[in-house]
Amino acid sequence: MADDKAILNLPGKEPIELTIKKGTLGQPVIDIQQLGQHGYFTFDPGFMSTAACESKITYIDGDKGILLHRGYLISELVEKADYLEVCYLLLNGELPNATQKANFIAKINQHSMVHEQLRSIFQGFPRSSHPMSIMCGAVGGLSAFYHDSLDINNPDHRNLAAIRLIAKLPTLAAMAYKYSIGQPYIYPLNTLSYAENFLNMMFALPANPDFRPDPLLSKAMDQIFILHADHEQNASTSTVRTAGSSAADPLACIAAGISALWGPAHGGANEAALNMLEQIGTEDNIAKYIARAKDKNDSFRLMGFGHRIYKNYDPRAAVMRKTCHDVLEHLNLLDDPIFKLAMKLEDIALHDPYFIEHKLYPNVDFYSGIVLRALGIPKNMYTVIFAVARTVGWIANWNEMLSTPPLRITRPRQLYTGYAQREFVPIKSR
Ligand code: CMC
Repeated sequence: MADDKAILNLPGKEPIELTIKKGTLGQPVIDIQQLGQHGYFTFDPGFMSTAACESKITYIDGDKGILLHRGYLISELVEKADYLEVCYLLLNGELPNATQKANFIAKINQHSMVHEQLRSIFQGFPRSSHPMSIMCGAVGGLSAFYHDSLDINNPDHRNLAAIRLIAKLPTLAAMAYKYSIGQPYIYPLNTLSYAENFLNMMFALPANPDFRPDPLLSKAMDQIFILHADHEQNASTSTVRTAGSSAADPLACIAAGISALWGPAHGGANEAALNMLEQIGTEDNIAKYIARAKDKNDSFRLMGFGHRIYKNYDPRAAVMRKTCHDVLEHLNLLDDPIFKLAMKLEDIALHDPYFIEHKLYPNVDFYSGIVLRALGIPKNMYTVIFAVARTVGWIANWNEMLSTPPLRITRPRQLYTGYAQREFVPIKSR
């Protein structure tokens, strides 16, 4: 069919036919894999127009503001499923039945503790460390404990790595927090749900063994986990795939993903958004900061606004906005000055011509920090929580890449603009 090929005319060459591939949904792609043989590469910094892989896991329609995991709308998953069901779905492609879910939870529970010796890693960090730096070290360090089950060509080992990571990340995250405030670590409790257990490990104390997290707040935590579980080929997921393409072990690959997530343009935006709100301080400062965000000579941006793919309302933000209201109402915090400031800023930005023309809407991170703050979680833990939730998306993508051969090492080319070959000048003559 004529529309299955694109014709590329290069100077001095015969026209080149390139196959156009169509997915189930979304824009078709032009397969340029053979282009290098014709003496050309493509140039696309930031991958503005490049599909780097095929995937069946997540689909985003950025113009319509739609996010699907394995075909299910994110809003429906948040309403009708819990985080571990979503994990099962992302990993296996289908929602679990009751038995499959019970078995999955049992496996997660079985692996929720970390090796006692891993505690020593924490001791090496200053208590003032950012917990994301501890997470990079501790998750990378997990590899040292599982040499016997990291064969990436063995599907059982790959599944075990996925279970271990999903099970242990909340434990490590809570340990990073407890370490920073000098409180004893709290062991995971298998009678609790995934979200309850995380909040329990964060806030319980040996002196208060009857502490249990508030059910509405645990539900909000579960929703935050679901909303951050996966998001297609974002910077951190692409990093995990790139690290995995060299056949690195999965635990090391996830440590690479955590590093990529940390930046304020990506997962670090939740912490940055709260810092920004504190910096703005009061409603009468909003106009000044909006003007700064629009000024091309000022590096200030409205954190928690804008997205590479969404040119419409981020569907995760729509859910998180509601959760934010529910949690603050439950905690009698609707008069909280930071919350009121955020609502005012959102309103002003959404009606500002610059933000309308640039299609800049609030993203999930604009609201998640406000919810986490209300839950009593310190700012430097926000991105850690994002990492806990996104681990399933990372490992599902890694596993998909490993299970659909051939595995090709990721090796982009470049447009070289440096010196041509030149003669070495000895130091005395320079
Ligand atoms: N405030 C002010 N202007 C902005 C913003 C913002 N938050 N975001 C983008 N713009 C402007 C930018 O200046 C540019 O304007 P112009 O075309 O006139 O030069 C235009 O919008 C396009 O920006 P870009 O940087 O080329 O867009 P991008 O797709 O490369 O970047 C982004 C996407 C998310 C990095 C960017 O919107 C941003 O820095 N946002 C703030 C950080 C943030 O909230 N990140 C979390 C993203 S959602 C969580 C996740 O999944 O990681």
